[in-house]
Amino acid sequence: MAAKICEGKTKKVFAAENDGSKVIIFFKDDITAFNGKRHDIIPEKGAISAYISSAIFKLLNENGVKTHFIEYIPPNKMLAWKLNMIPLEIVCRNIATGSLLKRLPMLKKGERLKKPIIEFFYKSDELGDPLLNECHLEYIVNREAIEEMKQITLKANEILKKFFEELGFTLVDFKLEFGTTMQGELMIGDELTCDTMRLWINGESFDKDIYRRGGSPEDVLKAYRKVYEAIKERIELK
Ligand code: TMP
Ligand code: ASP
Repeated sequence: MAAKICEGKTKKVFAAENDGSKVIIFFKDDITAFNGKRHDIIPEKGAISAYISSAIFKLLNENGVKTHFIEYIPPNKMLAWKLNMIPLEIVCRNIATGSLLKRLPMLKKGERLKKPIIEFFYKSDELGDPLLNECHLEYIVNREAIEEMKQITLKANEILKKFFEELGFTLVDFKLEFGTTMQGELMIGDELTCDTMRLWINGESFDKDIYRRGGSPEDVLKAYRKVYEAIKERIELK
């Protein structure tokens, strides 16, 4: 078995054999909320998440948005470029909901935003992922990288909004993480799954909000399966 590089709440990262520039990402069946205070195991979730993330990253790669995705390894793994991760969570929002309503209480839940809102959070469970402003960001990455991450995120949003609309879902918001390759190239890393984006059909959630609101593991799996089936119809991965 290849060496484990790191492990988070929902994924494990292993070194790819015979190639130091690649990693194998293993999607666990775990689901957590409230910084790990609620935790369940949902059999099949890892496989569904690996497929969704692989398919979406493939779509982005093919549309000029670079991600670390190389290949889907059925049922629950993904071959990816090894990245040096930047400790930021970049959130892009099309519709007002979630934590945004605490910052902009004049917005109504479900209201479409005038234009996408991008927010940067410092990735730290210990600190509760605090929101950062542009001045803070300069202590983490240089200006050019911040600008590049913003542009890539907006481009990804346009591609994904259209894709999900065609599948009958509204892309409410999503979270990205970025990293750089050994050659210093900036690209999207981590995952893009029902854990890290909000998808609605007529205001009904098909994402981790079901779990955050106290929904059962069965309800979560049903919703994630629906998203998976819809994506699979459009993007067939071998
Ligand atoms: P928020 O409204 O709770 O800030 O969430 C914004 C988006 O980011 C939503 O699609 C869920 C995603 N997200 C994560 O992927 N990880 C997190 O830790 C949090 C808080 C949100
Ligand atoms: N912060 C993540 C979420 O709620 C996971 C967790 O809190 O355990 O989306």
